[in-house]
Amino acid sequence: MTRDSDFPLPAQGDAAGAAEARAESARGERPLVQAERLSKLYPVRRGPFAKPAFVQAVDGVTFHVHRGEALGLVGESGSGKSTLGRLAIRLIEPTVGRVFFDGEDLTAMSDRALRAMRRRMQIVFQDPYGSLNPRMTLREIVGEGIVIHRLARTRDEETAMVEAVLQRVGLRPDMMERFPHELSGGQRQRVAIARALAVRPDFIVCDEPVSALDLSVQAQIVNLLEELQDELALSLLFISHDLRVVEHVSHRVAVMYLGRIVEIGPAQGVSERRHHPYTRALFDATPSIDRGGKARRLLPGAPASAINPPEGCVFHPRCRRAEEGKCDVEIPPLEELVPGSGHRVACWYPELE
Ligand SMILES: Nc1ncnc2c1ncn2[C@@H]1O[C@H](COP(=O)(O)OP(=O)(O)OP(=O)(O)O)[C@@H](O)[C@H]1O
Ligand SMILES: [Mg+2]
Repeated sequence: MTRDSDFPLPAQGDAAGAAEARAESARGERPLVQAERLSKLYPVRRGPFAKPAFVQAVDGVTFHVHRGEALGLVGESGSGKSTLGRLAIRLIEPTVGRVFFDGEDLTAMSDRALRAMRRRMQIVFQDPYGSLNPRMTLREIVGEGIVIHRLARTRDEETAMVEAVLQRVGLRPDMMERFPHELSGGQRQRVAIARALAVRPDFIVCDEPVSALDLSVQAQIVNLLEELQDELALSLLFISHDLRVVEHVSHRVAVMYLGRIVEIGPAQGVSERRHHPYTRALFDATPSIDRGGKARRLLPGAPASAINPPEGCVFHPRCRRAEEGKCDVEIPPLEELVPGSGHRVACWYPELE
């Protein structure tokens, strides 16, 4: 795909692009996004007379995303991925913990400062049907952020910006006056991406952006996101339960289980070594070409409840390597097996071969 020189988004970071921005960021500059010990408890009512209970959706999670970097986040349904993604841009308030964005503490920011900061942090949701207002035209949907953040001086300029961004995501500018219901699922997701891009963000949370789409369309949208990420040196938090999608897009991958990150590291390292028994089970359960597309299920049982998470390692009740007296008692720290590798695992008995 050729670079569209009319596209009015400046290359963020360095003109040399994503790789350079990422390298610079990793060389010691602070990460763009730095989340520290984030936790989120949701109160749940299990009946009018039941004692109040809480879902521990996210439990003490620390991670960062460099400039120009795509961090993939995988895990089963209910592991806390969406909650973590929303916490990362303060769409929801953490129960405990902080998020720094470009060095500023989002969790301590005034509403006004946060509103201005919102331009730089966008989100693309899974469901392009639910996330686009059916009563707004594409021009209004994509132009809304441009107006709110006063990015255009005139109406003509606003129109030109909407046109350019639509074009960049592969939609024709003459579709501007259409409504979401006149589009296909893939086209709607392109609109959602255009809406996010229109305000020239630095960071986009993509929460299962292709899971609701037909298989044939998924690859197109994944490729588009990958291209945009690289071209604009965007930072992405790319959430998906589909490992193949995550591996394809991400520089680093984090694996979540019951509210905690159990393994994180360079995408290739995590997918080749799979030190955590859960990561291994997750990869083995993913259909692959060499097994004729057939998935094997290795994990016995359903994930434990986030209302009463297990003591010790949250994965121990389903883990074939768990040792009594250790894994059911002590929480394993998320640590590098090889110092300096950036590949961390939270497991007392990691898989080593
Ligand atoms: N608003 C809420 N109120 C109560 N519980 C919630 C709320 N949102 C999420 N949860 C619970 O928090 C846990 C984590 O949910 P979350 O949606 O973050 O998981 P997920 O990994 O994104 O799952 P999925 O793959 O299904 O999207 C789940 O147990 C879920 O039921
Ligand atoms: Mg989710």
